[in-house]
Amino acid sequence: MTVITTIEDLRVLAKKRVPRMFYDYADSGSWTESTYRANESDFQAIKLRQRVAVNMENRSTAVKMVGIDAKMPVAIAPVGLTGMQHADGEILAARAAEAFGVPFTLSTMSICSIEDIAAHTKAPFWFQLYMMRDREAMARMIDRCKAARCSALVLTLDLQVIGQRHKDLKNGLTAPPRPTVANILNLMTKPRWCLGMAGTKRHTFGNLVGHVKAVTNMKSLASWTNEQFDPRLNWDDVEWVKRQWGGKLILKGILDVEDARLAAQSGADAIVVSNHGGRQLDGAMSSIQALPAIVAEVGSQIEVHMDGGIRSGQDVLKAWALGARGTYIGRSMVYGLGAMGQAGVEKALQIIHKELDVTMAFCGHTQLTQVDQRILVPGTYPTA
Ligand code: GLV
Repeated sequence: MTVITTIEDLRVLAKKRVPRMFYDYADSGSWTESTYRANESDFQAIKLRQRVAVNMENRSTAVKMVGIDAKMPVAIAPVGLTGMQHADGEILAARAAEAFGVPFTLSTMSICSIEDIAAHTKAPFWFQLYMMRDREAMARMIDRCKAARCSALVLTLDLQVIGQRHKDLKNGLTAPPRPTVANILNLMTKPRWCLGMAGTKRHTFGNLVGHVKAVTNMKSLASWTNEQFDPRLNWDDVEWVKRQWGGKLILKGILDVEDARLAAQSGADAIVVSNHGGRQLDGAMSSIQALPAIVAEVGSQIEVHMDGGIRSGQDVLKAWALGARGTYIGRSMVYGLGAMGQAGVEKALQIIHKELDVTMAFCGHTQLTQVDQRILVPGTYPTA
């Protein structure tokens, strides 16, 4: 087997090991996937200034995200169906995050439940919430987060309706997969995955089945969201969630300066500049492109994070230099998990940390907290 040194190596291995519909679910965007691609390519266009003859001993990438210590400004992003990339996927990813020292965020649409994560980890984790029509179910879910001692709630604002994801539609994505001829033939080529799934009972949406009315059996993400997500979500609902929760609140899915202003006024603790990994509005700006104007507008009032396109520590450093006080990895985590389970997620975190640390040193810094936009070559990075 090839030695794993990059996130791309993990992606290639995950593609071999994970059933096609779940691999495709992760490695895809909506519509033409132009925003999905721009998230990565816009990072690559930004150039770094190399500095030399600077003492590079005693380096640190440690920061705080919403007041919580992290070994680097990276959290695990909430990713739906993570437990379909690998058996018990969310538990394994949460353990990897805990071992490494970064926050883990559990998705509402996860396979392992809030209680599963609480039972298998010691470090408090974050929970991502979707606004559903059933407010009683929402209130109960928030109470479950409190009982599990979650240390932050991440409210997603950009998925009132779901983007057109052609691969998912063509693959007939469900969790668990339906026993069609095409699925069975594909699963026969994934013995490792099948063996893992045979050893766990967690095969469908663990936060929802048995907890939310009308969710009693297997469901596709698309049909579930269409039926249950609240298309009327507005800033009053954000206020409702804030009151109901009472703890640290992060608003995810902000891409416009105008919305960033409203988010800052809402009293939330942080926002995540995000286009949902290019999975919602295709044709929207890349996250890194949108970041500087939002930081300029609200960065002094609210902590600004970002996600979308982070495949290396260099990307984390560039986002930090442009004012993001935290980043999230979704696909980079999922590829590690699909490739090698918990060890793969730990590997992904190590790869990103190593690249962040070495690149910071090449740019002439030993403390990430001292790094700013001056490490970037003028004219190559987006500005406000
Ligand atoms: C859900 O959050 C998705 O993007 O699939």
